[in-house]
Amino acid sequence: MSGARGLTAANDVSAPNDLSAWWLPFTANRAFKARPRIITRAKDMHYYTPEGKPIIDGSAGLWCVNAGHNRDSIVSAIQAQAAELDFAPAFQFAHGIGFTVASRIAELAPGDLDHVFFCNSGSEAADTAIKIAMAYWHTQGQGQRTRVIGRERGYHGVGFGGISVGGISANRKVFGTLLSGVDHLPHTYNRAEQAFSRGEPEWGAHLADDLERIVALHDASTIAAVIVEPMAGSTGVLPPPKGYLKRLRQICDKFGILLIFDEVITGFGRTGFAFAAERYGVVPDIITFAKGVTSGTVPMGGVIVRKHIHDAFMTGPEHIIELFHGYTYSGHPLACAAALATLDVYRDENLFERTRQLEDKWADAFFTLKGLPNVIDIRTLGLVGAVELSSRPDAVGKRGFEAMERGFHEHGIMVRTTGDTIAVSPPLIVTEDQIGEIVDKIATTIRAVA
Ligand SMILES: Cc1ncc(COP(=O)(O)O)c(C=O)c1O
Repeated sequence: MSGARGLTAANDVSAPNDLSAWWLPFTANRAFKARPRIITRAKDMHYYTPEGKPIIDGSAGLWCVNAGHNRDSIVSAIQAQAAELDFAPAFQFAHGIGFTVASRIAELAPGDLDHVFFCNSGSEAADTAIKIAMAYWHTQGQGQRTRVIGRERGYHGVGFGGISVGGISANRKVFGTLLSGVDHLPHTYNRAEQAFSRGEPEWGAHLADDLERIVALHDASTIAAVIVEPMAGSTGVLPPPKGYLKRLRQICDKFGILLIFDEVITGFGRTGFAFAAERYGVVPDIITFAKGVTSGTVPMGGVIVRKHIHDAFMTGPEHIIELFHGYTYSGHPLACAAALATLDVYRDENLFERTRQLEDKWADAFFTLKGLPNVIDIRTLGLVGAVELSSRPDAVGKRGFEAMERGFHEHGIMVRTTGDTIAVSPPLIVTEDQIGEIVDKIATTIRAVA
């Protein structure tokens, strides 16, 4: 093995002495390994480095640790489940806790989104949703409805379905021809019209009308579904323009197209509701979720579908499998135990409602960053905030990268960056004092990378 930078004694798994073998995902590996950002422990709102230095978690890990880190009840539930039932197949067999979790999730979902299909990640959820949408049209004798319409700047994970309907060029351009027959709505961001909007911008509902153009081009009879994130997270936090999602729903209804909300980030409280669908008063046909369902503790994802979609599959001989799809770890017992304990924390601590109550204070704090060097936009929604910085003339994304790196090493904060946008989404247990601390640290970081 080639010698990566030595850190500490061999066999100390919390601070390894050879960093070469792990090819890190979505990471600038060489820069990381030259100056690693290693985390050994976490509790509530903080991570801790091998030296014991606290790092305030401004990103809920990867938008997933909504209940805060290492919550005792969640830890105990996972430990107890591991001792009771480590694994059981969910193909032709099942376990009680899976049904309980599915019912709890269905209860939180709007309208008649009553049935839950489990997988293990947001990427699997997006691909599962696309497959269910296509297969549904087969049950309706409309198997030619195979097109899926995504949106520019959308992120739906890294499976081939997800990157095809997603709208991030770097995630698509080196992976061949992708899924055929997709098209994209325009993204909803326009700095000239929307900069420094608090929450949902006033401008942009009309962008949903582009779906009419796409329908005119391909014909509704070829389109299975539209998939969008209610708030685009990964491409820099783009709250939906006021009225946009309702308009999208109306146009989908007009042409009989299924509407999929990818709620992998917005689900489980991030916007102040169990799902953003509730915030916007729009009932999609399919919702994808992951991340917050277990507060990031054990991988879990899933797809919630409306009753008529589920029921459409429940025909034919009863010994025949209705949907040829699933994962070995769909509804893994440890993930189910983690989900149940996490949903209890959300309910018992009113974390979704609390997010709604904190939203204004969060936005007030965030908007104090206006006027700092290079700040060209600020966007907020629920407990999410983004500060967009102008790019260094020589290198798009470099200022953002430096902000993330210096934030961690010098200012004790973890944030996500996308290009030159700093995205912040703390655990929903964040206190008002900690909101102040997070925003102060971001301000210091922004000045440091001026
Ligand atoms: C909206 C959305 N969909 C899908 C995904 C992919 O989730 P995962 O990384 O768990 O596959 C993400 C991840 O950030 C996401 O934000």
